Amino acid sequence: MTERYAVIGHPVAHSKSPWIHAEFARACGQDIEYTRIEAPEDGFAAAADAFRAAGGKGLNVTLPFKEEAFRYCGARVSARARAAGAANTLDFMEACSGDNTDGVGLVRDLAGNLGFALKGRRVLLIGAGGAARGVAGALLETGIALLVIANRTASKAAALAERFPGSRASGFAALDGEAFDLAINATSAGLAGEAPELPRGLLRKDLLAYDMVYGKDTPFLAAARAAGARACDGTGMLVEQAAESFHLWRGVRPDTAPVLARLRGR
Ligand code: ATR
Repeated sequence: MTERYAVIGHPVAHSKSPWIHAEFARACGQDIEYTRIEAPEDGFAAAADAFRAAGGKGLNVTLPFKEEAFRYCGARVSARARAAGAANTLDFMEACSGDNTDGVGLVRDLAGNLGFALKGRRVLLIGAGGAARGVAGALLETGIALLVIANRTASKAAALAERFPGSRASGFAALDGEAFDLAINATSAGLAGEAPELPRGLLRKDLLAYDMVYGKDTPFLAAARAAGARACDGTGMLVEQAAESFHLWRGVRPDTAPVLARLRGR
């Protein structure tokens, strides 16, 4: 019998997850249906309850519901969801349980698809909202030498760094003179056509500049390229976090390379 999954968000019409999961299912010979659920801003729990009651087996959760999805699962959450305070994957196979595949998705894209060995690297994570919180833990587990969390509002960076021992907080101006191997833009600036105002010289040759926004050449990436850095958007992270969710649900790990290639070429 076809088992049903969906991505829930607000808005969700733009989501590429149904296409990605359909590709995975086809390649892996899995009989699933994967749709979109547009829930009203105050309607996450009701929509998740209804999907589950109708026999739905699992949900991917996108903005703005990841924190609510975490609370929805109560105590049945993975360590990485707890670290993020957010869940992007709910599994209804038995009891409802919550996980977060965003961090591992980012790390797999960096280390696998982009061939960037993280061990011993100096990493700058820009932003202190949900997107940054979702990936800080996974980055720290890779053996990087340094994780600096920098935010426009420095007090929010300090609060986030406190949550992730081994990281350190900074405002933007205080980054002047520091050198990083990897700078990850986890702010929402790119969605508004803006770039975080980083000190001159931070974007340079020998830097990998990564924007977690996908399918968009953000001002951050454009500035990084202009400075001679290697610039990558978050398309690979999107595909890798989806693959990890698929694996959690179906017990099969899809090959991400052909899906990523097709998504980039679309
Ligand atoms: P998300 O869940 O996507 O991370 P969020 O929790 O609203 O969204 O956080 C947005 C992040 O983007 C914050 O770190 C925010 O910085 P502030 O805390 O200073 O507001 C950052 N951000 C948004 N627009 C920005 C811009 N133009 N320049 C720099 N940082 C920006």
